Amino acid sequence: MAMAVARVQSLFVTTILFLGHCIAAAPICDARDRNALLTWKQELADPYGTLSDWDTNPDCCTWLQTRQYRMTTCDSAGRITSLIMGKGLEYKPGPVYQKANGGVYGAPIGNLTQLKKLDLRTIYSGGATLSSTWVKLTKLSNLTLDVLVAGPLPVALLKAWPLQYLDLTNNDLNGTLPVELCKSTLTILKLSGNVFTGPIPRCLSRFPASSFNDSSTGPSGNEGLCNPPLPPCS
Ligand SMILES: *[C@@H]1O[C@H](CO)[C@@H](O)[C@H](O)[C@H]1NC(C)=O
Ligand SMILES: *[C@@H]1O[C@H](CO)[C@@H](O)[C@H](O)[C@H]1NC(C)=O
Ligand SMILES: *[C@@H]1O[C@H](CO)[C@@H](O)[C@H](O)[C@H]1NC(C)=O
Ligand SMILES: *[C@@H]1O[C@H](CO)[C@@H](O)[C@H](O)[C@H]1NC(C)=O
Repeated sequence: MAMAVARVQSLFVTTILFLGHCIAAAPICDARDRNALLTWKQELADPYGTLSDWDTNPDCCTWLQTRQYRMTTCDSAGRITSLIMGKGLEYKPGPVYQKANGGVYGAPIGNLTQLKKLDLRTIYSGGATLSSTWVKLTKLSNLTLDVLVAGPLPVALLKAWPLQYLDLTNNDLNGTLPVELCKSTLTILKLSGNVFTGPIPRCLSRFPASSFNDSSTGPSGNEGLCNPPLPPCS
């Protein structure tokens, strides 16, 4: 009997210790990442308060979560590894816009240096260019942008990002496709709906034509692109 009680007590203590460990291990957002996003919020127009819990909830690892959607995901140190905005915000009365900000898009996001996945849609920029601070995103493997950024694809950024998945459909990007897109790790490439011109680098001929001229989600764009998988440059 005494032994059974002792065993139950021991199980109880073990359970409490285990629960304590779980609570202690739950990531609380790193102040650097929180500050970066709160700084970015100052550049956003948020007329419906879609992002209001950014101000009231100090834990940026739990901002805006529903059963189907997580805006942020953190690692065990509380650093943000995934940020998904735009798609998923629809259940809130939108929209959120980036205000004109010196023609540069998302400068504070460069401080989320542990980001692996960034997916921003409908937070439109009105023709801004990608911030050069994104060169600090040296873990970024999965990038989706549908925010109307413009100008050429910055080579320094492409060099810094260990890309596996790149979806830049429906922006206003122009100029030629840099050879820095040639990464053996890149498995998915979607560039339709931009205004890229010139010969497609030979290393990208392994992708289907629809990587460059898909018209299922808007104008296929890129009318000045040529060479495989598109028709040869004349
Ligand atoms: C980004 O990080 C730098 C260096 O740690 C810091 O000085 C700067 O204030 C940060 N910017 C934002 C927007 O958090
Ligand atoms: C990258 O993100 C896209 C869109 O969210 C998803 O479909 C894809 O599976 C992801 N790929 C990787 C390698 O994480
Ligand atoms: C590319 O877009 C930028 C920004 O809109 C513009 O200033 C530039 O003239 C364009 N370049 C080309 C080659 O079309
Ligand atoms: C894309 O390019 C391929 C190869 O030239 C062509 O067969 C296809 O019809 C094009 N699709 C669109 C939507 O332009």
